[in-house]
Amino acid sequence: MDIAVIGSNNVDLITYINRMPREGETLEAPKFQMGCGGKGANQAIAAARLGSRVLMLTRVGNDVFAENTVANFAANGVDTAHVLRTEASSGVAPIFVDPEGRNSILIVKGANGLLSPEDVADAAEDLAKTKLIVLQLEIPLETVYAAIEFGNARGIPVLLNPAPAHPELDLDRIKGCDYFMPNESELALLTGMPVENPEQAEEAARSLLDAGIRNIVVTLGSRGALWINKSQTKRIPAAPVAAVDTTGAGDAFIGCFSHCLVTGDDLSGGSAIFDRDLEAPGDVESALNAACRYAADSVTRLGTQTSYATREEFTAKAH
Ligand code: RIB
Ligand code: NA
Repeated sequence: MDIAVIGSNNVDLITYINRMPREGETLEAPKFQMGCGGKGANQAIAAARLGSRVLMLTRVGNDVFAENTVANFAANGVDTAHVLRTEASSGVAPIFVDPEGRNSILIVKGANGLLSPEDVADAAEDLAKTKLIVLQLEIPLETVYAAIEFGNARGIPVLLNPAPAHPELDLDRIKGCDYFMPNESELALLTGMPVENPEQAEEAARSLLDAGIRNIVVTLGSRGALWINKSQTKRIPAAPVAAVDTTGAGDAFIGCFSHCLVTGDDLSGGSAIFDRDLEAPGDVESALNAACRYAADSVTRLGTQTSYATREEFTAKAH
C-alpha cells in the first residue's frame, strides 16, 4: 500500500444557489447534486484516481448512505478492509455553492465522530505497510493524535491537513507530523496571526516552524501554495482557471500531493513531464506543482469527487 488515509467520509448534498435565503424566506435554487464527499474520502479518492494504492480507515453509518459510500471506495480502487460499520448516521454535508463557485459547508459528523484511537490500533498491521499516513480534522482529535504517534513510532511519514479549522488542535501533539498543510483561514486560527496576504502567511507559517513542525505548506487557493521548512521558503504559483465549483479543491490538492510524493509520479508539467517511477519517492516541489494543477483542474467541474480527474484524463488534458 502507498497511502493510508485515516479520516472522514460524508454524503455531500450540494445545492447551487443564486443567494442564501433570508430567515423565514423560501427561495428557489437552480440545481442540486448529491455525491460522495468528506475530506478524508475525497483525498483518498483523488490519490487512488491518480494511481496510488490507498487504504481508507473510516466509519460509515447504518443508513442508506453507507452502502453507496463503500461501493464508491471499491469502484475507485480504494481498499475497504478498514471501512467500519457504525450504529450511527453517516456523515452528511449540506453544501451551498454560489454563482462564483464559492462554497459554504455544514457538516454533521455522525459515524465520523466515532472513529477512535482503538480503530487505529486495530488497523496497525495494515497501516504499518503504508508509506504515508494522511489525516484531517473531521474525526476526533484524540484519533488524529494517536495516528501521528503511530506513524512516528513506525517511521511512517505523516501529513496533517488541519481542516476544518479546529480551535482546540494542540500544536504540541502534532509536532510529529512531517507535512502540515493548512489553508489561510486555518493558519490564521491556529496561530492567532493575521493571514490576509502571502507575506502574512509566510510569517504565520514561520511561527509554526518555531513550534517544531518540519514542513508547512499553506494552500492559497487560486494563488497557489507556500512551502516553508528550516532551510527554505518556496512559492508555488497556480495558473488562473474559470472556477465553477471550488468544493473539494483543497482535498484534490492533498490527494494529488500525497500521490506524487509517495510514488514519484511526476505530474508537475515540468521537464520530466508525466514520467512515472513508482519506486522512487518524488520531490516535494514537483508534488506541490502537480497538486496546484490538479486542484485547479477540479474547480472547472461541478461537485466534489465528481470533479477529480483520473490520471489518464489529467495527463491527456495537459498535453
Ligand atoms: O472539503 C470538502 C468536503 O468538506 C466536502 O466533501 C464535505 O463533505 C466536507 O467534508
Ligand atoms: Na469541483
